[in-house]
Amino acid sequence: MAAAGDEQLLLHLKLAFFALEPSARVLALARKAGGGSVTPRVQNFILENCIGNNVGGGQNYTYVETILKKVIAEAELSSEIVNDELYEELGQCMLSKSNNSSLNVANKIYKDISFLSPTYDDDSSNTVSLVARLSCSTNMLEGDTGCCLWPSSLFLSEFILSFPELFSRKSCFELGSGVGLVGVCLNYVGASKVILTDGDASTLINMKANMEMNNLYIEDSRLVIESKNKVECKYLSWEEASDKDLWDCERDVVLGADIIYNPSCVPHLVRVLSMLLRRDDGQHRSVDAATDEETSDVNGATGGRVAYIATVIRNVDTFNCFAKAAADSKLSIVNITSTAAPSSFLPYMLSYDRSSVQLLKIKLSLSDTDDGKSSLLMLPF
Ligand SMILES: C[S@@+](CC[C@H](N)C(=O)[O-])C[C@H]1O[C@@H](n2cnc3c(N)ncnc32)[C@H](O)[C@@H]1O
Repeated sequence: MAAAGDEQLLLHLKLAFFALEPSARVLALARKAGGGSVTPRVQNFILENCIGNNVGGGQNYTYVETILKKVIAEAELSSEIVNDELYEELGQCMLSKSNNSSLNVANKIYKDISFLSPTYDDDSSNTVSLVARLSCSTNMLEGDTGCCLWPSSLFLSEFILSFPELFSRKSCFELGSGVGLVGVCLNYVGASKVILTDGDASTLINMKANMEMNNLYIEDSRLVIESKNKVECKYLSWEEASDKDLWDCERDVVLGADIIYNPSCVPHLVRVLSMLLRRDDGQHRSVDAATDEETSDVNGATGGRVAYIATVIRNVDTFNCFAKAAADSKLSIVNITSTAAPSSFLPYMLSYDRSSVQLLKIKLSLSDTDDGKSSLLMLPF
């Protein structure tokens, strides 16, 4: 019988495989589980628990093929006995792929993102609390940015799961939602309503398909209130959005992950954020949000609509442009990355660099004379 530590390493290996982690990362976990090499026991585990359960089916053949090749090469190199079934599986995989040429051009893959319950002592958790299945694009660029999963949305998801009280029984509205992972987490923590938006049509189609795959998408927004499945997916371009478009969108909390990256979009993004955070739009607020008005939040602040934006600062100029535009629009920004650090729910995801992500809390400044505090956040060039 495997010891608890072994079990955990094998679980991480399995979850990394289903999240389609880069093959080098999966191999690193396989090596670790084998105590330094990919032993026959680990090979059997991969055959039975990963390859044998490959949920993405045909769409993920290329990935499975790569993993099998690397596992075999690694085992051969370290003079481990190689399980014959690995060769057989590899042959099968290559045959199936060549028999179905359409798979060679498919650019969609299916990732299972599993969130492990964090523990607060030395024992590491083996409990999966939530799994989101997402169709993603293999092409990060060339118009497919919204169909990829970016680290900020992993961070924002961990934040939501770490501080469920900030989102449960609240109407939550996300900008630039991409594949929709944040929506799955918001639904999980009991948000009363979840509106995901994006300004890219193909991203929106993929997002809706993902919500359907997770049994969360509902076409008719009137049913959202009665249904447990309460994720609505909407087209919203920051350039085109008007007050009228947002009029009937309930929101207590606004969210965004990796949306500050294009300097030409920044003024439009800031304008939309200001519209979303304003309260003078005659909108009916949810009863819970109204009564929560004076409840202090994770950062000790009280009241009002709030936005949580997770971002990787790739270009300081672009970030400063955002901070300046936000200050000009009387938005106050506080960096809460360290004061509200989320727990780690994705310990197996070695490719995810949590330290690269910053979390911003944004509110409207209290009065017209009160300048936003965003300039405090300006970074040196
Ligand atoms: C880098 S992706 C992040 C996606 C997702 N939030 C994540 O972190 O995985 C940026 C997202 O913002 C959307 N976006 C970019 N510019 C936009 C605009 N001007 N209006 C609306 N959506 C926009 C893109 O379509 C894309 O889905």
